[in-house]
Amino acid sequence: MKSDTRWLIANWKMNGTAASVREYAAALSSVLSAAPTTIECAFCPPSLYIAPAIESRTGRLKIGAQDCHGQAKGAFTGEVSAAMLKDTGCELVIVGHSERRAAGETDAQVYVKAQAAIAAGLIPVICVGESEAEYLAKTTNDVLSHQLVKLTELATNSYLIAYEPVWAIGTGKTPQLLEIEAVHAYIKSVLGSVTSVLYGGSVNSANAREILQIPEVSGALVGSASLTVPVMQDIINAA
Ligand code: PGA
Repeated sequence: MKSDTRWLIANWKMNGTAASVREYAAALSSVLSAAPTTIECAFCPPSLYIAPAIESRTGRLKIGAQDCHGQAKGAFTGEVSAAMLKDTGCELVIVGHSERRAAGETDAQVYVKAQAAIAAGLIPVICVGESEAEYLAKTTNDVLSHQLVKLTELATNSYLIAYEPVWAIGTGKTPQLLEIEAVHAYIKSVLGSVTSVLYGGSVNSANAREILQIPEVSGALVGSASLTVPVMQDIINAA
């Protein structure tokens, strides 16, 4: 992954319809075709809509998934493997999102999922971040060190990290710019300076420019603001 690349990843979570996914993938593709090639953009719809997204995108818009299973195949009802995502045409997969960690996903499972994604030829976007109580207790780096320790075993540059403070997701709150810069620097000190670290948590068209200007920030993982093309276009322009 090139160091001057800026990644913008739209995480639609459990939103959309087949029709809205098709329309969005086509429209975002054309926005991206006018952007500099240092911008990499990915759209992660619900897994059921990955195929319509892939059929409707054009050019260099990447399609990603929001999760995968850690095993290659087997008796895991309702699950989707990284190899299946690759087979469908995905290029990335988000793993360890705090909404999944809140449902019980552990650091060990996140590591196995990231490993499975890399083995399948996908780029895992590995989410880490502290809770509000941990932020207020000033234990962010301690929390992250636990989330990151196993990730040091993954091949450098085979994955992206998304630093998403849990308290900033969907709340309209963000850390101060200096705090984002310091946490990204800390993550790079653990995983290596070439690691691409994206910021996520209430990124929108109003704050994208100042956040993406921080040298340690290699892009953004965008939730609610990614749902419409004009707002995503503003964020792409900011990058
Ligand atoms: P948000 O979500 O942009 O709505 O805060 C970000 C995320 O959960 O990845």
